[in-house]
Amino acid sequence: MTILVTGGLGFIGSHTIVELIEQGNDCLIIDNLSKSTVEVVQRIETVVQKKVPFLQVEMLDKEALRDVFRAYNISSVIHFAGYKSVGESIERPLLYYQNNIISTLNLLEIMQEFNVKKLVFSSSATVYGDENWPPLKEDLPLSAPNPYGRTKLMLEEILCDFVTANFGWSVALMRYFNPIGAHKSGELGELPFGAPNNLMPHILKVASGEKNSLKIFGGNYDTKDGSCIRDFIHIMDLADGHVKALQYIEKNMGCEAFNLGTGRGYSVLNLIHTFEKVTGEKVPYEIVDRREGDIVVSIADVQKAETSLGWKAKYRLEDMCKDSWRWYQTIGALSIK
Ligand SMILES: NC(=O)c1ccc[n+]([C@@H]2O[C@H](COP(=O)([O-])OP(=O)(O)OC[C@H]3O[C@@H](n4cnc5c(N)ncnc54)[C@H](O)[C@@H]3O)[C@@H](O)[C@H]2O)c1
Repeated sequence: MTILVTGGLGFIGSHTIVELIEQGNDCLIIDNLSKSTVEVVQRIETVVQKKVPFLQVEMLDKEALRDVFRAYNISSVIHFAGYKSVGESIERPLLYYQNNIISTLNLLEIMQEFNVKKLVFSSSATVYGDENWPPLKEDLPLSAPNPYGRTKLMLEEILCDFVTANFGWSVALMRYFNPIGAHKSGELGELPFGAPNNLMPHILKVASGEKNSLKIFGGNYDTKDGSCIRDFIHIMDLADGHVKALQYIEKNMGCEAFNLGTGRGYSVLNLIHTFEKVTGEKVPYEIVDRREGDIVVSIADVQKAETSLGWKAKYRLEDMCKDSWRWYQTIGALSIK
């Protein structure tokens, strides 16, 4: 039996594939290469030391997706494929609604046709909106401040409606906090296409001298050092969370949300100073105006993932910084343009 991993050549997908294979699972990657490159297949293979099947598939193409299910005996799906840039989603909402929502509807329809009823879905902590106060627990009221977040919120609702209407399904909605870090080999990491959205790729560019300084949006928030606070989580902890979620949905039916975070908050300035300490590189920065829509403090309540999935984040902020830097020096600088 094969686990289908959509968007498996992306940042989270590629690390999860490594974890799945190292824990003895058979996987098939599909990806349309819109935000990744085929070289990632070789890098995954270098890490796991075996061949990993990959098909270039556009999930908006229902027939192409159907062919995948015809050709492979798929038992469950981890669905990472989607666009993730908040800024781009504000500029091009239709692109986001179309890509993120239609591809998931296609996947559900085909899964139903082939009687595959287990799905782990990439959601995001963005569904907690900006009204809730941390630690953010799964049962809080949800809202989303931008089109990207709304695709995740709508998909969570669509998936739960679908599970309610169709007996025997199990879906895990994984709400990620702020994944950073890279595989310890330096072979895999975050490969942003175009302008990076997340903080760490910007830090890497500044530390390497490719950019002069880092912009920090807002330095006068009501936090200890005035910068926003985030729950940064190592990508390998996040990957392990998906393996545990798959094991959970093997045994439990229904639609359940799980936070994947560490339960600890670090400020943006904390992250920069830790990065400087562990790498010995300087990260010059300037504080600029607040960015509209930024949440001040985002920290996960991790109780549910700990008790239900038997999962807990292990890596420290220092590891996240060291591993990101190693990746950038090995491969990342060559690929991040
Ligand atoms: N990285 C984060 O900070 C973060 C946080 C919360 C949620 N997420 C969600 O997790 C998922 C994975 O994120 P990531 O950081 O690995 O992103 P990523 O961009 O690195 O990977 C996504 C992959 O999906 C592929 N893809 C996109 N649309 C596709 C389509 N229509 N058909 C086939 N393949 C397609 C891309 O080519 C890419 O390789 C996304 O759904 C994202 O919204 C990410």
